[in-house]
Amino acid sequence: MNGNDLPALVTPIPGPASRGWVDRLAVRECPAITARRARRAAVLGRADDDPPVWVQARGVNVLDADGNLLVDLTAGFGASSVGHAHPRVVQAGQQQLATLPHAMGDAFFHPGRVQLLEHLAAISGLDRAILGSSGSDAVEAALKTACVATGRDRVLAFDGSYHGLSYGALPVTGYKSGAFRAPFAGQLGQHVDHAPFGGPLPDLTGLGAVLVEPIQGRGGVRAPPQGWLAELCDKAHAAGALVILDEIFTGMGRTGCWFAFQEQGITPDLLCVGKGLGGGFPISACLGSARVMDAWGASTGEAIHTQTFLGNPVGCAMALATLEVIEGEGLREQAQAQGAWLSGALAALPGVLGVRGRGLMVAPELGSGARALAASRGMLRRGWIVLPAGEEGDVLAFTPPLTVSRAVLEASVIALGEVLGELL
Ligand SMILES: Cc1ncc(COP(=O)(O)O)c(C=O)c1O
Repeated sequence: MNGNDLPALVTPIPGPASRGWVDRLAVRECPAITARRARRAAVLGRADDDPPVWVQARGVNVLDADGNLLVDLTAGFGASSVGHAHPRVVQAGQQQLATLPHAMGDAFFHPGRVQLLEHLAAISGLDRAILGSSGSDAVEAALKTACVATGRDRVLAFDGSYHGLSYGALPVTGYKSGAFRAPFAGQLGQHVDHAPFGGPLPDLTGLGAVLVEPIQGRGGVRAPPQGWLAELCDKAHAAGALVILDEIFTGMGRTGCWFAFQEQGITPDLLCVGKGLGGGFPISACLGSARVMDAWGASTGEAIHTQTFLGNPVGCAMALATLEVIEGEGLREQAQAQGAWLSGALAALPGVLGVRGRGLMVAPELGSGARALAASRGMLRRGWIVLPAGEEGDVLAFTPPLTVSRAVLEASVIALGEVLGELL
C-alpha cells in the first residue's frame, strides 16, 4: 500500500471476512449505530450492503478484512485530511505515546498543548482556545463561551446544518432534525431558532450567538450566496450577538486555505475545528478572540469547563504534526488545484446535473437520493468509498485526503462515469 494506489479487489464487496465481523458486531453493538445486513435486509429487502471492515489504511487507501484494497474518497468523514496514517503524524503520535500518553485536563498540562495552542492562534488569528475530543465538544464549548460572554442564551442556527449529536450540539443541528431530535425532544433545550441557510435573515435582536458552517458539509456541500456570510456577521454584531463559525469540516486546508472564512473577508468571534485537526486522532478546538474568551474569568482552582482527556498529549502531538504536514507539503495549494480539476471533470460526466463545493470538498448533484445511493453502492462495489450527502441524499460528497494524486482522482471520475452509465 503506497497511499495513492487504485482499488484492487480480491473478493466481491463485502467479502466473507467482512460479513463475519459485521454479523458479530450486530450481536454486541446497539443496533442503531452500524448499518448491518440482518437489519437492512429486513428494511431494504436486500443483503448486499454490509460495509467492508477496515483493518489497515495508508494515504487514500484502506485495506479491508478480505484483503481488498479500497480508495477512501471521504478521508474517513474528513478526519484523515493528510491521509490515513501519515508517517510523520504516526511517528509524532508513537513518540508521544511512549513518553507521556496522558496528562490531567485542566490540572496538569504538558508543553505540546502550549505549542498546539500557539500554532492554532497563528493560523487563525484567534488568540485563545478550549480543546476537546470531538467536533460536538468544540461546538458545545463555543455555545457556552457565547453564553458567558454575552449573558444571552438564544442562538440562531440554520436549516440543513450539522453540528453534532451530543445534547449540546443536537438542538443547533438542523440537518435531519426530525430523525435526530424527535426521540429526545423532551430532554433538549429550547433556546435555538433555525433560519433558511443562505436565505433572508431574521431579526437578530436579543440573540447571544449565530452558529453557521461557511459551507454545509453533511448538509450537502452547500455554500451560501456570495456576501451572505458577511451580511450575517454584520447583522449579528450590530445586534450584540457573537458569530460562531463551525469549520469542523471545512477547516484545516480542505477548502484551499486554513479556514474557509479567510477567503470571505470575515472574522468570527469563535471558531470550531475538529476532524482533520488530529490527523486521525480525536481532538478538537474552540478558538476565540481574547475579548470573548476572557469573559470566562480566571479559574478559581475548580475549572467550570474541562474534561478528563482535555489537551491529551498524543492528540496535541499528532495535531502539531498534522499542521506541519499541511504547511510543509503545500496541501492547501493541492486542495485548490486538485479540487478545481475534480469539479471540472465531474461536471463533464453525463448524468451529473451540477457540481458544488470548494477545494477538495466537491459534490456532484445526481438529481435524487435514490440515484446517489445507487451510485455510492456502485462505486463501493468497484472499491471506491464515497457517500451521499444532503437532506435528500442527492449529492455524492468527494472529500478525499488532501494528499490524493491526480491519477487517483482521474480513475475515480472514470469509475463514477461507468457507474452512472449503468444507472441511465
Ligand atoms: C460541520 C460539523 N460540525 C460538527 C460535527 C460533529 O463532529 P463530531 O462527529 O466529531 O462530534 C461534524 C461532523 O460531521 C461536522 O461536519
